[in-house]
Amino acid sequence: MLAAAVFAAAPAHAADVQRGAELYRLHCTSCHGAGGRPVLPGAPDFTQPIALLKPDLRLLDALKAGRGAMPAYAGLLRDAELLDLVAHLRTLR
Ligand code: HEC
Repeated sequence: MLAAAVFAAAPAHAADVQRGAELYRLHCTSCHGAGGRPVLPGAPDFTQPIALLKPDLRLLDALKAGRGAMPAYAGLLRDAELLDLVAHLRTLR
């Protein structure tokens, strides 16, 4: 019963944290640092709990559109990959 409820609540795409970590190393560490502590001034510190209060889909929009010094990732990375990245970011605290 509990299992059925959990499955019913699961999103269609289960994020792959491992793939998110690989994509992060490739695309994000130059500004955000390997462990989420920013290298570029003005980038958020992902080790701080307040950095990622927005829901996944809001962060997805920010990544697709770009923000400040951060480039837009729409067309470079697929939505599923960006959601894997967001899942990885949430492990950095
Ligand atoms: C060229 C530097 C740079 C790169 C590369 C970069 N970022 Fe950023 N990122 C920033 C900066 C600067 C901000 C803060 C922008 C602002 O608020 O003005 C930011 C903000 C963010 C935010 C917060 C968005 C929000 O709406 O709160 C997330 C999440 C994020 N980056 C994730 C990533 C991920 C994942 C990657 C790799 C795919 C990445 N960034 C690559 C510089 C970068």
